[in-house]
Amino acid sequence: MATTELNFKVEHVEESAVTKVDWENLVFGKTFTDHMLVMDYADGAWEQPQILPFQSILMHPAMSSIHYGQSIFEGLKAYRQMDGKVAVFRPDMNAKRFNESAERMCMPQIPEHLFVEMVRKIVEIDQAWVSGIEGHSLYIRPFMFATDHWVGIKPSDTYKFMILLSPVGTYYSELVRVKIESYYTRAAVGGVGRAKAAGNYGASLYPAKFAQANGYHQLVWTDAKEHKFIEESGTMNILFQINDTLITPSEEEDTILRGVTKRSILEIAAHWGINVQERKISVEEIIHAANSGVLQDAFGAGTAASLAQIALIGYKGIDYMLPPVETRTISNRLKTYLTDVKIGAVEDELGWNLLV
Ligand code: COI
Repeated sequence: MATTELNFKVEHVEESAVTKVDWENLVFGKTFTDHMLVMDYADGAWEQPQILPFQSILMHPAMSSIHYGQSIFEGLKAYRQMDGKVAVFRPDMNAKRFNESAERMCMPQIPEHLFVEMVRKIVEIDQAWVSGIEGHSLYIRPFMFATDHWVGIKPSDTYKFMILLSPVGTYYSELVRVKIESYYTRAAVGGVGRAKAAGNYGASLYPAKFAQANGYHQLVWTDAKEHKFIEESGTMNILFQINDTLITPSEEEDTILRGVTKRSILEIAAHWGINVQERKISVEEIIHAANSGVLQDAFGAGTAASLAQIALIGYKGIDYMLPPVETRTISNRLKTYLTDVKIGAVEDELGWNLLV
């Protein structure tokens, strides 16, 4: 980065499209705001960030990210506060994770405070798109991809960083049905599972397709070596409640995405004195807990899905039903509190909201 202070070039739309949004029928990720942010990297430095009217971009057919997948992304959200202001939830965490992904994929770093400022600035410009409807938010999608025009394989010398904004409603309209995967693999130790690399998501589509054809929403990924240990669920991290303890797979190995929503849930739960464990969790332990009636709850945690409670877990042809959602006191309390913090309905004790 040539400068430490950002000097944006801003080109505003002539007329906002916000009045045309069908707020009641939003489909996740299909509606985009008036503007987008673009910043190019060349000659070892980031150029001036530009905020432009939302538009298509030109691509060279040999652009290296299309061929070799040097492409990473982030997901975070802005919320309309009870007092009418707009705040972004924990953008510093995404900035940090973005750079971790960039490092793993041989891509350039973006100083965290500049990443956060770019997010803040574009949300400020398009803040009219943050609706105050219950369950709604503005999904923020920063991403970076390699742009060298070369089909030779090496880390690109040039990159494009962009931010898109998309108003969204609730990701899941019902409790989630998941199936434990015991053949296909999302990530192996030493691979790129910890990175939010585009290819991880592309590779998950084929196995997910089979689960979806059998009535499940998502897979629960297991370890690549033996398929004995739980890792994460589709695009979310996964948490279980056995008796009164909240457990989730530990992040020690580099196969699991370091989720911001999951981390926030664990921090709140620990603050409330709930017993929280991050450790290896075997499939056997979960099935045994379900059979003996002590599996009180299971839920996913992710930016898009927020806290998504699970209805049932499929494994080797059997569906293990979870208790009725009304009885799940811990996840219900966590879900309410997390939403309340994000919309400013309770005090932001931990300083998680960035007002734009
Ligand atoms: C997110 O929660 O931000 C995700 O990565 C989900 C997305 C793939 C829809």
